[in-house]
Amino acid sequence: MLDAPDPPIGAATRSAPSGHLRAQLWMICACCLGRLKDMSWSPVSTLPRRTHTDHVEPEPGSLAEYFDSWYADMAGSPVKDAIQRRHLGLPPHLLSTSLLGWEGIAEATSALRLSAGSTLVDLACGRGGYGLEIAARTGARLAGVDFSAEAVRQAREQAPRLGVAAEFCVGDLAATGLHADSANAVLCVDAIHFAPQPDAAYREIARILTSGGRAVLTCWEPLARGDERLPERLRRVDLRGGLTAAGFAGIEVCDRPGWRASERAMWGGSRRARPR
Ligand SMILES: C[S@@+](CC[C@H](N)C(=O)[O-])C[C@H]1O[C@@H](n2cnc3c(N)ncnc32)[C@H](O)[C@@H]1O
Repeated sequence: MLDAPDPPIGAATRSAPSGHLRAQLWMICACCLGRLKDMSWSPVSTLPRRTHTDHVEPEPGSLAEYFDSWYADMAGSPVKDAIQRRHLGLPPHLLSTSLLGWEGIAEATSALRLSAGSTLVDLACGRGGYGLEIAARTGARLAGVDFSAEAVRQAREQAPRLGVAAEFCVGDLAATGLHADSANAVLCVDAIHFAPQPDAAYREIARILTSGGRAVLTCWEPLARGDERLPERLRRVDLRGGLTAAGFAGIEVCDRPGWRASERAMWGGSRRARPR
């Protein structure tokens, strides 16, 4: 399904080559084949969104509030974005808060198999950078969801600058507020591990996808499940297991050690950057 240079699809191993390697980037491409509805697709003059009046407000002191201030800081200083762009090979218009580089975007785009007018949901979209880029490449319409109201605000500002048909709303990984069977494809970049109940998030992806729809997730997985050096939320990541339980089929998991190398280089670059 994917052009995978190294290692070949299916050859990814869960055994740790080195005790120092704390986590690994994985990519999943899955077809949601478990449901019986056909592929008929209503025109997306209405993107599959909740209205702005019923959005989910983050609770005080919550993780969403933490992300709100994270994104507000990014709006105030270009340093983080500059470092990230340099290490991931991203153009200035692409606002990322993760580790998917330029080549990874091409791989994800190809795996999503979008066509013009189809609908892509970027789940936990942050400032919308990857979804907007893929929508611009494919002509797909974009619906972005994130629980950070500040991220959604910035994403809404960015879409018209890029001339992409997109809507962004506040919602949760496990409760997007989007209609069932409303997405042809779902992208979730470096975020599924934040779901307090991962199974509910996988089920939500399956719920919003049309039958035959495709999902691409990027995340880290522990090389050793019991590795206590890892935060609990990363220790429990099991992409194949979670997607299988949610009814996905045709799941491919690809190890991307090169992405991990970029991450290390990026954190090194951050340490050397002077605070402004
Ligand atoms: C590492 S950032 C990645 C953002 C974006 N996907 C990107 O690659 O630029 C993780 C994102 O997950 C969002 N997030 C975390 N937990 C969430 C949840 N339970 N529901 C919705 N979004 C969540 C955060 O607000 C943040 O935008």
